Amino acid sequence: NPKFKGRDFLAIRDYTSEEVMEILELAQKLKKMQKEGIPHPLLAGKTLGMIFQKPSTRTRVSFEVGIYQLGGYGLFLSPNDLQMGRGETIKDTALTLSRYLDGIMIRTFAQEEVEELAYWASIPVINGLTDLLHPCQIMGDILTILEKKGTLKGLKCAFIGDGNNVCHSLLVGGAKVGMNVVVACPPGFAPKHEIMAQALKDAEETGAKLWVVEDPAEAVDGADVIYTDVWASMGQEKEAHEKEKHFARYQVNASLLGKAKPDVIVMHCLPAKRGREITDEVMDGPNSVVFDEAENRLHAQKAIMALVMQ
Ligand code: CP
Ligand code: NVA
Repeated sequence: NPKFKGRDFLAIRDYTSEEVMEILELAQKLKKMQKEGIPHPLLAGKTLGMIFQKPSTRTRVSFEVGIYQLGGYGLFLSPNDLQMGRGETIKDTALTLSRYLDGIMIRTFAQEEVEELAYWASIPVINGLTDLLHPCQIMGDILTILEKKGTLKGLKCAFIGDGNNVCHSLLVGGAKVGMNVVVACPPGFAPKHEIMAQALKDAEETGAKLWVVEDPAEAVDGADVIYTDVWASMGQEKEAHEKEKHFARYQVNASLLGKAKPDVIVMHCLPAKRGREITDEVMDGPNSVVFDEAENRLHAQKAIMALVMQ
């Protein structure tokens, strides 16, 4: 599919609704092939550099395994070992890495850094999480919802908690695929205005409804999907304690679950703080799909890599 070749994957915003669905279709195909043991070396001989300025379990392992399953090779690049850690610029790093690699995945703090890297790199750059967005996560999540519910359009997804990177990408993702997304958050922790405004624009095309409320019970009423994430993200360690006070009523527990549809699925991008934003009972319970969701990172990202690094 030539229209994806060479493109960055920095934000779901940059892809049309149709393109998002094409990525998901390929993800489903690749997942089936992998399950059936059918080789699919779409990126034979290609290399992916993976820069992590923050810790990772799922993103790191799923990208590294994913590129390997596609016939390529992944290099884990720790900031402590890269010269970037000693002050080499993003520009020089991008220009250099473009001479060796076929793609770069980066996890860092500022979205602007990822954009700067992509600006200078002549190879595709994939966003593996910033403070603002987590687009690969949401591609895997939408795949999971599609598998579990058989459809996306018109579903009600309730995000309970902090209006963070995952929440932002969920809003944009929902807008692109026609899934309604309601965010329940304490005052002062709502998703960013610019993100909401832009997601609402995308939603006009698909008919998705996006809105923010304060009351978690109101948000989960009739929900098909409940989604939560940590209250304090990576880089917010200092505020974590203070933040917790605001979020006490935003725990996803059995009582909240009882207000959603009986067949509601519960999602969490992980890692979770069990006993805080989600109880053990819910996370280990029959409605939870959190590990299917974790698995689908692999399949969704393989599709993204296969398309942009072809
Ligand atoms: N969900 C997610 O991105 O997990 P990691 O931080 O372990 O990569
Ligand atoms: N919001 C979380 C997601 C982790 C995958 C964070 O940024 O730490």
